Amino acid sequence: MPATPKEPKLPPRERVFSGMRPTGRLHLGHLLGALPNWVRLQDEYDCYYCVADLHALTTRFDSVEDMKQDGVEMVADWIAAGIDPGRSIIFRQSEVKEHSELALLLGMIVPVAWLTRVPSYKEQIGELGQRIATFGFLGYPVLQTADIILYKAGRVPVGEDQLSHLELAREIVRRFNGLYGPVFPQPRAILTETPRLMGLDGRKMSKSYGNTIDIAEDPEMVRKKAMSMFTDPARQRLKDKGHPDRCNVFSYHKFFEAPAAELDEIDKGCRAASIGCTQCKTRLADRILAVLDPIRERRQALLAEPGRLAAILEDGRRRAQAAAAEVLTEACAAIGI
Ligand code: TRP
Ligand code: SF4
Repeated sequence: MPATPKEPKLPPRERVFSGMRPTGRLHLGHLLGALPNWVRLQDEYDCYYCVADLHALTTRFDSVEDMKQDGVEMVADWIAAGIDPGRSIIFRQSEVKEHSELALLLGMIVPVAWLTRVPSYKEQIGELGQRIATFGFLGYPVLQTADIILYKAGRVPVGEDQLSHLELAREIVRRFNGLYGPVFPQPRAILTETPRLMGLDGRKMSKSYGNTIDIAEDPEMVRKKAMSMFTDPARQRLKDKGHPDRCNVFSYHKFFEAPAAELDEIDKGCRAASIGCTQCKTRLADRILAVLDPIRERRQALLAEPGRLAAILEDGRRRAQAAAAEVLTEACAAIGI
């Protein structure tokens, strides 16, 4: 009899899996945070990028009206920002039924106590209320684990807020492999450095605070929002000397890669009170628009041709489903069903 292998059988090229919930428009935080990582990883890995609509349902089960379109627009943002549907597999989670089946199977071996102790569980219920205290929401990390291991993905780019979910995914994999044999590799996080880009008001950037600029924001609105940004509170009048190191507008200039000479000029001008905040913000608006204009144009071109996005999602569904079916078959055989 051949010895039982101790290591899972892996795909020929290492895979990356990540997803985003379609909960509304993507903003500058995504554009400077998760997306550049996703784009870069395409060179080295087979990437699976998933519209996590089942995960979105855990919180928006009662406001589903625009969810499908939100997903389509999110994919348009991804592609406009550099995700290449020719190389990466872009698909909708709910269209590959294997995600649901594997999540159900994993549910059999995950103790409820593992789920109630995930920090984001109590936090989110504290924030969003008992409305989301459902079976599905408790199982959120189980579904997320299924997403990743259904492709035997070894690497998962995530933000810091998702690290506890990934730790749990590794724990679930160890338990599965211990019970049924070595089917799944333990996924490892690739930590996305969350850019220290604050919201327009200086608080944490969040859609719920209304302090973001969307990737698809109308140019007039970008200007209006830039002009409304909080600056160094010590600089009330033009003649007051400012502190760029305490000013959110100045950090934005840095994040949008102002040339060193210009940063230096703003820094000196602000400290000497020789340039005004209005001028400084106008320049920032120009700088943001120089980045957003081409992205918005690509996005609009994609959305003007809905057949094309539908074809991309269909192609992604087909490729993802083929890979998923293979792994699910292996998992079922290991369990003996
Ligand atoms: N939970 C993730 C988020 O809200 C989205 C997501 C779903 C995900 N499935 C995933 C991320 C698998 C990484 C891997 O951001
Ligand atoms: Fe901020 Fe620019 Fe005003 Fe200085 S001049 S306080 S950097 S907005």
